[in-house]
Amino acid sequence: MTEILTIIRPDDFHAHFRTGDLLRAVVPLTAAIFGRAVAMPNLRPPVTTTARAKTYREEILAAVPHGVSFEPLMTLYLTDLTDANDLQRGFEEKILSAAKLYPANATTNSEFGISNIKRIYPVLERMQKIGMPVLMHGEVADAVVDIFDREAVFIERVLVPLRRDFPALKIVMEHITTEEAVDYVREEGGKGTLAATVTAHHLHINRNALLAGGVRPHYYCLPIAKREKHRQALIKAATSGEKMFFLGTDSAPHALSAKESSCGCAGCFTSVTAFELYAQIFDEAGKLDKLEAFASINGARFYGLPINQGSAILRKITPRHIKPILTQDAQTIMPFEPPSPLLWEASVSV
Ligand code: NCD
Ligand code: ZN
Repeated sequence: MTEILTIIRPDDFHAHFRTGDLLRAVVPLTAAIFGRAVAMPNLRPPVTTTARAKTYREEILAAVPHGVSFEPLMTLYLTDLTDANDLQRGFEEKILSAAKLYPANATTNSEFGISNIKRIYPVLERMQKIGMPVLMHGEVADAVVDIFDREAVFIERVLVPLRRDFPALKIVMEHITTEEAVDYVREEGGKGTLAATVTAHHLHINRNALLAGGVRPHYYCLPIAKREKHRQALIKAATSGEKMFFLGTDSAPHALSAKESSCGCAGCFTSVTAFELYAQIFDEAGKLDKLEAFASINGARFYGLPINQGSAILRKITPRHIKPILTQDAQTIMPFEPPSPLLWEASVSV
C-alpha cells in the first residue's frame, strides 16, 4: 500500500480567483501546491481585454506569498465584441494563454457570454490560425433542455459542428461531467486538438450526494453532478493517464450566504485540498501511478508549456476536519468536503 508519493509539481487548468479580499484569501491556497493555474475571467465586469488581463494578473501575483513560485495563466472572456487583434497581441506577448467561451447565461457571471457562436467565428478563425486554445463551458443554456442533459446536448449542437468548421482549433471542454463527453473527447482527442479538464468534486460526488436525504448547497455547481455511472466514466478517464484528460479544479469560491440561500449559487470551493481530493480517487482506483500524467504532464503538453520544476509530495494521513475560510472583509467561504473522509495531505518542494 502506497503511503507516500512524490510526483512532478502539478498545474490547475481551471481556477476562479475572483478579486479583492476573496482573491487574497484563495490565491495562496492554489499557489501552495500548483505551479501554474488558468485564471478564469468571469469577474464582474468580465476580463475582456488584454489590458485588463494584465492588471488582473498583477492582482493575482500580489497575493502570492513571498517565496512561493506560482504563475497565473490568463484568459480572455469571449463576447460578441471581442477584438481579434487585441486577443492575438495578448497571446503573442504571452499575457494570454487562452480564451473562454461561456454560452450566455449558462453559469455564474456568464450574462455577457455568447448567444450565437457564429457571431464570433472571425475570432475563432484567428485563434485557430495562431494556435490559441478556446476553453468551453460545455453546456447549452436553452431553458427547455433539462439541466442534466445540457452537456450532452452541447456536444451535439455546438461542439460537433464547431469542430467541423474549425478542425485545427484547439478546444478544451471544461469540467466534463458525463459519459457522453468522456467518449467524445476520447474518440476525438487523439488528434491533439481536443482535450477536457476533470474537476476533483465531480470525481467525488454524484447527484445523490447533492440531493438525496436533503439538498447540499456546497455540492451544487455547474455543470451539475450527474448519475453514478457518469462519475464512474469520469474516474476511468482521469485515471487512464490518456493525454486528452487533465486536471482543472474549477474551484469556485462563493460567500457562505450566497451558497446557503433559497436560490444558492453554483460553484464548489475545492482549492484547500484539491490535489489531495484527486489523489484519493486515484488511490481508490489503484491508479496512483497515473496521477502524474493527469496532474502534471497532459495539460502542460496540450497548452505547449514546459513541465514544472519541483515536486509535490502526497502523504497518507488520518482524516482531518476542514475548517471554513474567513476573508479579510469577514466573509465565510466553505471548503468542499467529500462524502467520505479525506486521507491524503500534499506539500510541495521546489
Ligand atoms: C463557476 C463560478 O462560480 O464562477 N461556477 C461553477 O459552478 N462551476 C463558473 C463555472 O465555471 O461554470
Ligand atoms: Zn469554472
